[in-house]
Parts: sequence; C-alpha cells; structure tokens
Amino acid sequence: MQDDVERILLEAGQIHARVRELAGEISAVYENSDTGLTLVPILSGSIIFLADLIRELPMKMRLALIHISTYPGATTRAKEPRTVMELTGNIADRDVLLVDDILDSGRTLARVRSMILERRPRSLRTAVLLRKPFHGMRPVEADFVGFDIEDLFVVGYGLDFDDHYRNLPHIAVLRSELMT
Ligand code: IMP
Ligand code: MG
Repeated sequence: MQDDVERILLEAGQIHARVRELAGEISAVYENSDTGLTLVPILSGSIIFLADLIRELPMKMRLALIHISTYPGATTRAKEPRTVMELTGNIADRDVLLVDDILDSGRTLARVRSMILERRPRSLRTAVLLRKPFHGMRPVEADFVGFDIEDLFVVGYGLDFDDHYRNLPHIAVLRSELMT
C-alpha cells in the first residue's frame, strides 16, 4: 500500500496535533451546551477524524450517523452526492456538529445541512479536517477547518480511492498512474 503513495502531504503527528487544537476550538463553543452536543459524521470518509476528535472532547456528546457517497468506485471525479443511509438518531433541539473529511465543492455538506435542518436542531455547525481551494462561491462554508490543502486528490486518514487507503495513518497523494 505504501508503494502506491507518491508523496505525503500531512504526517500523522501533524494531523493529531491539529485535531487536538480543533477539539479545543470546538469545546470552547459548546462548553455550555445544555441540550448536549450531537456530532453527525458523514460516513465513510470522516470515521478516523471522528474517532480521534471525539476522544479529545471533554464534554458529554452523542452521535447520529449519515452515509453519503460522492465518489462511487475508482474515480477522482465527483458525482452528485447520493444518500446511502438516512440519519440515525434524534437531533431535534440538539446542538449539531456535522463532521466531514474534506470540503471541496460543498455539495455534500449542502445536501446534508438541508436534511439536518428539516429536523429542527437547536444549532448547526460544521467541522472538516481538510478544505480544498474552490473557484467561485461554495453553497456552504465550514465553521471549523483543520487544514487548507492544495487542489489534489488525497487519500488516507479515512479518505479513500476506490474504497482503499482509508487506513493510511497520514494524508497522501497517490502515484498518478493509479488514478487514471
Ligand atoms: P464536495 O461535495 O465536492 O464538497 O466533496 C466532498 C466529499 O467528496 C467528501 O465528503 C469526500 O468524501 C469526497 N472527496 C472530495 N475530495 C476528495 C479527495 O481528495 N479524496 C477523497 N475523497 C474526496
Ligand atoms: Mg465523504
């Protein structure tokens, strides 16, 4: 698997340090949340980020899951986001924090935001580990961002290509001949 990597963009240590900082930023916003914080991770890409992030949060929290697929199969070209699994769990009147791996066009977050808002949460914010540059206006922005990265297709730390490489501990760029 490591042989498929052309370049490491973010080392595991850098990611962990930044996730710890993000947890601090998030805690500062929600420390007085009396309804309780509910994190909604967008599966599958956000799982590693989620697992590390929630273990750095000192307050009580709940999870509600949603599964959206944007890049089905061996492609680096986004399709229209498709709902694979509807939201689990109750979020009415809760403080909801959406968690995703990466913000690109914003279509995924826009889709999930409107699904969440229909269920009348008390508040709704968004955390992403990575953000790509985007030309023009995104339909949504993120409230918490780990890293701004170059406009490259990246894998690792939850992010996949054809459902592989999620278990790489760092964020990396694949050798270009693998992604044709
Ligand atoms: P958006 O809808 O264009 O903002 O794309 C966001 C979704 O596409 C994320 O939830 C990811 O699952 C996926 N995605 C976007 N860029 C990448 C990438 O570079 N590597 C892997 N997945 C990506
Ligand atoms: Mg995703």
